Amino acid sequence: MSLYNYPIPPSSELTSESTFLDRRKFLAGTTGLALAGFAGTAEAKGQAKLRELNFEKSPMSVPMAEATSFKDITQYNNFYEFGTSKTDPARHAGKLTTVPWSVKVDGLVNNPGQVDFEDLLTKFTLEERVYRFRCVEAWSMVVPWVGIPLASLLKKFDIQGNAKYVAFETLVRPSEMIGQRARGSGIKWPYVEGLRMDEAMHPLSILAVGIYGKTMMNQNGAPVRLVVPWKYGFKSIKSIVRIRLTEKQPSSTWNILIPREYGFYSNVNPKRDHPRWSQASERVIGSGLFARRIKTQMFNGYADQVADLYKGMDLQKFY
Ligand code: MTE
Repeated sequence: MSLYNYPIPPSSELTSESTFLDRRKFLAGTTGLALAGFAGTAEAKGQAKLRELNFEKSPMSVPMAEATSFKDITQYNNFYEFGTSKTDPARHAGKLTTVPWSVKVDGLVNNPGQVDFEDLLTKFTLEERVYRFRCVEAWSMVVPWVGIPLASLLKKFDIQGNAKYVAFETLVRPSEMIGQRARGSGIKWPYVEGLRMDEAMHPLSILAVGIYGKTMMNQNGAPVRLVVPWKYGFKSIKSIVRIRLTEKQPSSTWNILIPREYGFYSNVNPKRDHPRWSQASERVIGSGLFARRIKTQMFNGYADQVADLYKGMDLQKFY
C-alpha cells in the first residue's frame, strides 16, 4: 500500500462545502430536539432503537455547555468498516446488527470469559463523562459519553502479574460492513488497537456504551467502544468484540499502515506535528461556516491527570 493511498485527507480538505450543505440540509429537516430527530432516523435505517440509559454524572467531565450537537457527533465520523469518507458511516452503519453482542476477554487473565452487552448496562456503574475528543486530522468535538471505567471491567477477569498491555479488536463481518468488502482503505481487518496497562487502568479510560444519555448509533461504534480522551481519536476503537491482555506491545491499525505517521502512544501533543500537517491547533466541529480554531492543549487538556504516566519518556520519539 502506498503512503499516499490512504484515506485520511489533509486538514485543509476537511472543511468541504458539501459537508456544510449536508449539515444545513439536516438542520432544515428537523424540528425540536436534534436528538428526537435522530432517534427517528435510527429506526428508519434499521439501527437498533436507541435506549435510555441510567447513569451517574461524573465529576471528570468538562462542562456540558461545550458539547458538540448530536447531529455533528453522528454525521461526521471515521469508521472505515463502513467506508472512507466522513459521511459513509452514517449512511452505511445502520446495516450492522448489534443484538446480541458480547465481548470476549482473554490472554493473561485468570478468569477468561466474555461479557454480554446487557451485563455492561446492568452490572456496572454507568457514568456520563463529557470528554474532549481530538482527531489526528486536527479537528475536535466534545462528546457526552456514557460508559464504564475500563478498569472496572478488566478487574473482573483477574489480571495476571505479567500482563503489560491491553489489545482490542473490532468485529469482522463483511456481510454487514461494506468497507470490509472494499479495497479502498488498505486496512487489514480486524481494526486493532492497544494500550499500556497503566493507560488502560487509568480512571479516564472508559468503555463507552452511549452518547447524550442513550445507547449510541452504530456510526459511533455501537454497542461498545473505547474512549481515551488524552489520545488522538483513532485509539478509540469501535464496536469491540475482543479484549486481550498481553505481555508484548500489541499492534495497532494505523501504526501497521503508516508507522512513520502514527505511533503506538498517539498522545495529543501540539509540539509534535503529524509529518504532513500541524497539530498546534484544531478546528472545532459544529462551529459554523467559518470554523473556529482553538489552540491544541498537551494531552488534550488532561495533562494534570495523565502527564505522570509518561514521566521520563521522550514524547517526540514515543509518538
Ligand atoms: N474504530 C474502528 N473499528 N474503525 C475505525 O475506522 N476510526 C477511528 C476511531 N475508531 C475507527 C475506529 C478514528 S480515525 C476516529 S477519529 C474515531 O474512531 C472517530 O470516532 P467518531 O466517529 O465517533 O467521532
